[in-house]
Amino acid sequence: MRIDIISVLPELLEGPFAHSILKRAKEKGLLELVVHPLRKWAVNEYGQIDDYQYGGGAGMVMMCEPLANAIESLSGERKYAEVIYMTPDGELLNQQMANTLSLKENLLIISGHYKGIDERIRGHFITKEISIGDYVLSGGELPAAVLADAIGRLLPGVLNDETSALFDSFQDGLLAPPVYTRPAEFRGWKVPEILLSGDPNKIADWRHDESVKKTGERRPGMQQD
Ligand code: ADE
Repeated sequence: MRIDIISVLPELLEGPFAHSILKRAKEKGLLELVVHPLRKWAVNEYGQIDDYQYGGGAGMVMMCEPLANAIESLSGERKYAEVIYMTPDGELLNQQMANTLSLKENLLIISGHYKGIDERIRGHFITKEISIGDYVLSGGELPAAVLADAIGRLLPGVLNDETSALFDSFQDGLLAPPVYTRPAEFRGWKVPEILLSGDPNKIADWRHDESVKKTGERRPGMQQD
């Protein structure tokens, strides 16, 4: 799978993809991640990509021309299943959305800045608008990294059996059960006896019960199988 990201601050995206699971996914050739600085398509030699908003008001707006040229130029090289704009007024990201997007061949993500992008770009180029939560960040780079991470770790071969995404919270409409590691007793706090029993069926039942309990307490409205 390939994910292209158009960004005003490409430096912000270097860290998240340089370590751990996403780094391994790239090294294994399972995920190609390319960040494109929007200033490459700036309207003048000063690197301008934003301008004042019509009607007045504080905050700059990302201009049509650099974005249109960037999207058209990249779309000429490959066909994108979705052109995604990261914005706090988009559809809320959830596991189901990440699952669906992880099945696509090519995705293009636009990370916004300032007051956002000109509405005409949203109307004519963007096919999906995604928010990572009901709060406002200073730019769309971190949201783009969150989305790429949520998608990248689902690609076949990226996670091994032990870390399989099938057992993540949300995959079955339930939050994940508690986990423990050695020692079996720490400061008098004991690991639940059943996890030491060696009985896989009992352990599976216990984990399921704990998941149901936790989901009921923390996310009573969450969809369950
Ligand atoms: N840009 C700024 N805040 C955001 C959010 N919560 N989700 C997606 N993009 C954003």
